[in-house]
Amino acid sequence: MADMVLPHHVAIIMDGNGRWATRRLMPRAAGHRAGLKRMIPLAEHVFESGVKYCTLFALSAENLNRPQEELESLFQLFREYFAKQIHKLEQQGIRLRVIGNLALIPADIAALIAQGERETAKGKRGTLTLAIGYGARQDIVSACNSAMKEGREVTVETFAEMLSTGGMPAVDLLIRTGKEKRLSNFLLFEAAYAELYFSEKMFPDFTNKHFDRALAEYCKRDRRYGKI
Ligand code: IPE
Ligand code: IPE
Ligand code: MG
Repeated sequence: MADMVLPHHVAIIMDGNGRWATRRLMPRAAGHRAGLKRMIPLAEHVFESGVKYCTLFALSAENLNRPQEELESLFQLFREYFAKQIHKLEQQGIRLRVIGNLALIPADIAALIAQGERETAKGKRGTLTLAIGYGARQDIVSACNSAMKEGREVTVETFAEMLSTGGMPAVDLLIRTGKEKRLSNFLLFEAAYAELYFSEKMFPDFTNKHFDRALAEYCKRDRRYGKI
């Protein structure tokens, strides 16, 4: 029978910002700005839908190999985002978490993030996790190394707790916008049994209605976890 239960954890690969801009003969940075602008209302809508965990892929570890000019514009947008939006999250009772290697991004942004995590730590309505400088393989290897250093043998459950997403439920629904059908090193362990949903829409054009469609489709899926 179809599983009508809402997903506890929705993860979104926010892809297509650059192409969105290029198609409009705009610089790629304008696409990143449009994407970040879309991210905030979309995350609010995800929580309004009753989802408790929303994890958004904002910047991969591999994206850090992009040209310096593009990275600079992205970092500037992150600065603006963290400076302006954190109090809104706090007012809405949303807890901010960030996963990824923050040593890879400018120190002032890492400091803004740490402050944002502290200020929103009491949020009970939902957890918004931004993946920044994140790579799933790197996260898995880092957890393996920690376990080895401690001389610990792990189980699937204890290992999951050692990942940067420790404490969160596994991903139920993973959405990727921007037409590509791949995971690009996102939540490889956590999404082992996630339902995948690929949207042709470039992220700035991915509306709340498009999210509702993904959610409706998720509710129709039959999650078997290897059983019959
Ligand atoms: C996703 O959009 C956002 C980041 C990776 C920072 P892209 O920048 O990958 O946009 P496309 O895929 O080139 O259109
Ligand atoms: C994945 O998109 C990363 C983010 C959306 C942050 P990419 O644009 O980096 O993925 P590839 O390079 O097409 O696989
Ligand atoms: Mg892309």
